[in-house]
Amino acid sequence: MADETIQYGTYEATVERSKKLEGDLEINPQKYRVLTGDRPTGRLHIGHLFGSLQNRVRLQNLGVQTFIVIADYQVLTDRDTFEAIGENIRELTIDYLAAGIVPLDGKGQGKTVIFPHSHVPELNQLLLPFLTLVTNAELDRNPTVKEEIAAAGQKRINAGMYTYPVHQAADILFCKGNVVPVGKDQLPHLELTRVIARRFNDRFAGQAPVFPEPQPLLSKSPVILGLDGGQKMSKSRHNAIMLSASEDETANLLKKAKTDADRLITYDPDQRPEVANLLLLLSLTTGETPETWAEKIGDGGAGTLKKQLTESMNEYLRPLRTRRKELEANPDYVRQVLRAGIAEARSQAEATLNEVRDSMHMSI
Ligand code: TRP
Repeated sequence: MADETIQYGTYEATVERSKKLEGDLEINPQKYRVLTGDRPTGRLHIGHLFGSLQNRVRLQNLGVQTFIVIADYQVLTDRDTFEAIGENIRELTIDYLAAGIVPLDGKGQGKTVIFPHSHVPELNQLLLPFLTLVTNAELDRNPTVKEEIAAAGQKRINAGMYTYPVHQAADILFCKGNVVPVGKDQLPHLELTRVIARRFNDRFAGQAPVFPEPQPLLSKSPVILGLDGGQKMSKSRHNAIMLSASEDETANLLKKAKTDADRLITYDPDQRPEVANLLLLLSLTTGETPETWAEKIGDGGAGTLKKQLTESMNEYLRPLRTRRKELEANPDYVRQVLRAGIAEARSQAEATLNEVRDSMHMSI
C-alpha cells in the first residue's frame, strides 16, 4: 500500500497556484475541464449566487467545458430524510439555469453538463477500485469529515460519511476533470482526489496515466454573511435571501436584518460586520464599491441602507427570478436537461471505466 502520506500543503501555496491557474484559464480555456457540484439539500440563496454560481457561469462563458454533479447520494451521509431529494434536484437545476448556466439539453446548443450522480452507474463503479487506494486511517483524519460528524449530532455515523470523499474523487475523475472550484472546506477532499489519481496511475497505469491530478481553483468571491450578521448565510440558519424569494419577502427579510446602534454608516468589516455585509451586497448588486455606498448613505442610517439595498437587490435579481418562474412552469424542459446531462455523463464514465478496467487487467 502507498507509503506516502497525504500532504495537505500550506494554504498560501494553494492560493499562489490557484492564481496562476486563474490566469491560464483565460488564455487556454480548452486545456481545462471544470467539475463542480452541490448536494441537493434545498434551493439556493444569494450567498450561493455571489459565492459560487456566478463563478461557474464565468468559467462556462470563458469556454471551459464544465460539468456540474448533483451529489444526491451524499445527502444520505448526514441526514435521515431523503423524501425531498428528487424535488431538490429539480430546484437546484432551476437555480443553475436561472443564474446563467447554459446546459447541454439535447437540442445541440448548450454546453454545461448537469447530472445527479446516482444516475451514472459507471461513475459509481469507480468507487470500488478507488476505495482500495486509501487507508481507513487516512479517511479518519479528514478534517472536513470530522467537522461534519461533529455538526451532524448523529449517534451512529454511517460508513458513507467516511467514504464520501472517495466518492467525490469518482465525481471528479470520471470525466477527467482537472479544475475544481472550491471553498477552503473542500480542499481536503480535493487533496484526496489528487492522491487517488496519483496512486491509481502509479499502481495500475504504468507508462500511460489514466487520470489527471485536478487542481483547486479557490474562490475569489467574498463570503456573504447571513442577515443575522455573525455567520455565513445558510438556509438552515434562516438568515438567507433565497433566489426564489418574492420582492416582498426580500423587502421583509432586509427590514429585519441585524445592524448596529451607530447611525452613521461606515464600511468597517471588522468592527461592524452586519453593516459591512449589507454594504457589500449593495456593491455586488450595483457595481459601486461598499465605501462609495457608505459615503452616499452617511447619516441616513440603517433605514436608508436597507431601503436602498432592497431596491437594488430586487432589481438585480428580477431577470433571474423571471427566468426561474418560466423554468418552474416548464418541468419537462428541466427533466430534459437532466436526461441529456445523465446521457453525456454516462458516455464519459463508460469510456473512463473501460480504460480503468484495461489498466487493472480486468478486460475480457
Ligand atoms: N462535497 C461537496 C459539498 O458538500 C459536494 C460535492 C460532491 C462536490 N461531489 C463534488 C463538489 C465534486 C465538487 C466536486 O458541497
